[in-house]
Amino acid sequence: MSRLSSRHLLGLEETSQEDIQLILNTAETFREVIDRTIKRVPTLRGITVVNLFYEPSTRTRISFELAEKRLSADIVNFSTSTSSVKKGESLRDTVQNIEAMKIDMVVVRHGSAGAPYFLTQCMDANIINGGDGSHEHPTQALLDMYTIRKKYKKLKGLRVVLVGDIKHSRVIRSNIWGLKTMGASVALCGPATLLPYDVEKFGCDVYTDVDEALDGADVVNIMRIQLERQQGGLFPSQREYANLFGITKERLKRLNRNYTIMHPGPMNRGVEITSEVADGKNSVILDQVTNGQAVRMAVLYLLSGRKGEEE
Ligand code: CP
Repeated sequence: MSRLSSRHLLGLEETSQEDIQLILNTAETFREVIDRTIKRVPTLRGITVVNLFYEPSTRTRISFELAEKRLSADIVNFSTSTSSVKKGESLRDTVQNIEAMKIDMVVVRHGSAGAPYFLTQCMDANIINGGDGSHEHPTQALLDMYTIRKKYKKLKGLRVVLVGDIKHSRVIRSNIWGLKTMGASVALCGPATLLPYDVEKFGCDVYTDVDEALDGADVVNIMRIQLERQQGGLFPSQREYANLFGITKERLKRLNRNYTIMHPGPMNRGVEITSEVADGKNSVILDQVTNGQAVRMAVLYLLSGRKGEEE
């Protein structure tokens, strides 16, 4: 099979094992391109991609932009601070005006869950979700799975622990759906106040004691504590979070011998992860960033040329 079942990438909850496999395998072929001296192939020549970022981003925005450049696409970068969104223009009017300029694909990051789906309802372009509210961040989970698969040569059967704000993290949600679809054993760990009320719907083991959660784990993927949510009083202090849930060198003794440390960034060093762990020999945090380009090249390539197709 060489075709994804959808012409958009909105999330991994509805994405099949075959589609995930196809993206990861295609990323493997693009991974080599980014190590070349001349990191460019003509794959998306003639295709125009708009990077529509309504929220701040370092990794996702730059990674998509580089992926598009390496595929020879034409690129437009949109940011709210320099657009007519500042004058009150709606999302629908903004994207319909952009589409009138004959663009083909949109990568969107937005603070509201469902914004990428909304775009599929008012545009013909292929839509890629670059993170929507607390809903999903599919390319982050795909690059996480790619990085894990590269090291262990498999995903099935690995024990992966996701630590942090289970309630609000879009990265955790996409990781849960993707990893479970690929046959990994997924455990969730975080303070009780940061667990969704219906956490059992994920079908994962759930822990509020990080030492228990880490026992026998192959991979620990540590999420940023979203300090902007601290005003809600969901945990008493950063110091308490660091003591109870922070991943320290001491806590690594509970993991399997060939363990892996991951973090999607940006990190709060000394809160959810110590520098010793983040920069340690089993950390693949910067490999995740490098691999992200190959995964995004694969997604762009697989969705391109399908503008306006019926779903
Ligand atoms: N991992 C991630 O989404 O980082 P950015 O917010 O910097 O894009």
